[in-house]
Amino acid sequence: MVPPTTVAEASAVATKDPAKDTILTPRFYTTDFDAMAAMDLRPNEPELEAICEEFRKDYNRHHFVRNDDFDGAADKLDPETRRVFVEFLEQSCTSEFSGFLLYKELSRRIKQQNPLLAECFAHMARDEARHAGFLNKAMSDFGMQLDLGFLTANKDYTFFQPKFIFYATYLSEKIGYWRYIAIYRHLEKNPESKIFPIFNFFENWCQDENRHGDFFDALMKSQPDTVRGPIAKLWCRFFLLAVFATMYVRDVARKEFYEALGLDARTYDKIVIEKTNETTARVFPVVLDVNNPKFWTRLERLVDNNAVLDAADRSSSPAPLKLLKKLPHWFSNGVEMAKLFLMSPIDSDKFQPAVR
Ligand SMILES: [Fe+2]
Ligand SMILES: [Fe+2]
Repeated sequence: MVPPTTVAEASAVATKDPAKDTILTPRFYTTDFDAMAAMDLRPNEPELEAICEEFRKDYNRHHFVRNDDFDGAADKLDPETRRVFVEFLEQSCTSEFSGFLLYKELSRRIKQQNPLLAECFAHMARDEARHAGFLNKAMSDFGMQLDLGFLTANKDYTFFQPKFIFYATYLSEKIGYWRYIAIYRHLEKNPESKIFPIFNFFENWCQDENRHGDFFDALMKSQPDTVRGPIAKLWCRFFLLAVFATMYVRDVARKEFYEALGLDARTYDKIVIEKTNETTARVFPVVLDVNNPKFWTRLERLVDNNAVLDAADRSSSPAPLKLLKKLPHWFSNGVEMAKLFLMSPIDSDKFQPAVR
């Protein structure tokens, strides 16, 4: 479970209202538990058993322990950096917690019928609870915390069939790995940009996400139809695009956070997308052609549309006028996404990693 807040801490920090749900905020998922329970793992059981054995070792058992570096660290941030950093903590905490809830519920609901799968999910829930708890504790350094119990009860849950859960969570684990390690490596070279000690924990932290991604890789290989055939190829393309486009638009919109770390949001996202695409070629039958310059020009059009939509939302215009302003940009987003989706993908067996 997420470490509970003590009464003393609770009195010192305010509970933060969760950010408004938009297409760019982290989602909570639920699935068909009976179908998960009935899953026959035999086509790839030895690999799944080996991954479970890794989870049992619990390498990061003693990792998430706060040290003196955190004392007074929050006070050193200027107001603007503080604002974007707290936003980052909140988004990260929400997505870690979303993973915790899904994995915990899965392990609970399939325990009797599918003990190996249930055990893997229980270990992953343990890791995500640690991550969410550590982020929420960092938020309390800034005088606020997320009420995770309230989030559990009040967020909307999106239902996905198991195969869609596999695509979405595999990608979010692998993208999480590349996001954390890219920040860690950058700050290792530029220690003057390390604005908060939480980044010291990212190296071991991202190894948890990498193992979680490997688990879903093995799980998809145990259900080969999820990554075989023309329909699976279409879904893989769709999920890759949805995950990459959402991240790019969201990160460029909050580029001030990356600037505070001495990073350019676009360059950072480009590296994360290239690396995740490359990793994904190990299990998805197709990946996206991210070396095609059109891929990036189209993402930029989504960024522009999003900026106008955001400004319209924030304006004081009457609702019908807002809607009128927004319509062409929604339409343009639809067109750009369709064009991105229709770009020729690359068969994973022919995939050549970009040289950097
Ligand atoms: Fe995590
Ligand atoms: Fe994870």
